[in-house]
Amino acid sequence: MSAKSERLLTILETPRLRLRRTRLADVPALVALWLDPEVTRHMGGPREESMLTKVFEEAAENPFAEPYDLWPVEEKTTGEVIGDCGLLSKEIEGVNEIELVYVIARSRWGRGYASEIAEALVHHAFEAHGLRRLVSLIEPENAGSERVARKVGMRLERAVLRPGGARRLLYAVEPRLKDGADT
Ligand SMILES: CC(C)(COP(=O)(O)OP(=O)(O)OC[C@H]1O[C@@H](n2cnc3c(N)ncnc32)[C@H](O)[C@@H]1OP(=O)(O)O)[C@@H](O)C(=O)NCCC(=O)NCCS
Repeated sequence: MSAKSERLLTILETPRLRLRRTRLADVPALVALWLDPEVTRHMGGPREESMLTKVFEEAAENPFAEPYDLWPVEEKTTGEVIGDCGLLSKEIEGVNEIELVYVIARSRWGRGYASEIAEALVHHAFEAHGLRRLVSLIEPENAGSERVARKVGMRLERAVLRPGGARRLLYAVEPRLKDGADT
């Protein structure tokens, strides 16, 4: 792929990671991520393989189709896809919200990657998309996810019930007022 096409697919970069739109070559890594029982433990469990392959292949064929989506996270030093993170449009108890989602491959847990990409995504959501609020829906046992949410400035608002009855913690963040604007 040319440097220009590579640039067009890139959504944002951090010191160690690149978030970009899906390419066909990413599909096996993304499918493996969502088939991992540990990774999906607090996210409804592993998905169905053929469904995953279909969804990711479609995303690669039409990478600009969705304004909000999960996108592959590439580790710059290896070029490997090590996560699937992004922004999803969701209705939560009758309100349309944009959810920040971070999923990192087990082999890369504990390196600060989720915090690094989540912080960049919060900034991107507020600056590039002009959003005024982002939320995360977190299973109450998912301590790691709560920690990441807090690290990027999210605060616990309340517990919510999802369709089907699952209880989730609703974390939210809004852009901070500029210095002096709140006086
Ligand atoms: C949760 C998850 C995203 C964390 O990814 P990560 O790259 O390991 O997170 P980081 O290295 O940025 O860690 C951030 C903080 O969370 C803490 N943390 C990470 N996993 C943790 C866990 N399982 N329990 C408690 N704390 C945890 C880290 O110690 C770190 O805290 P510190 O900054 O005070 O030292 C990762 O485990 C994951 O992908 N899990 C499966 C998918 C998932 O549940 N996503 C969230 C959906 S809501």
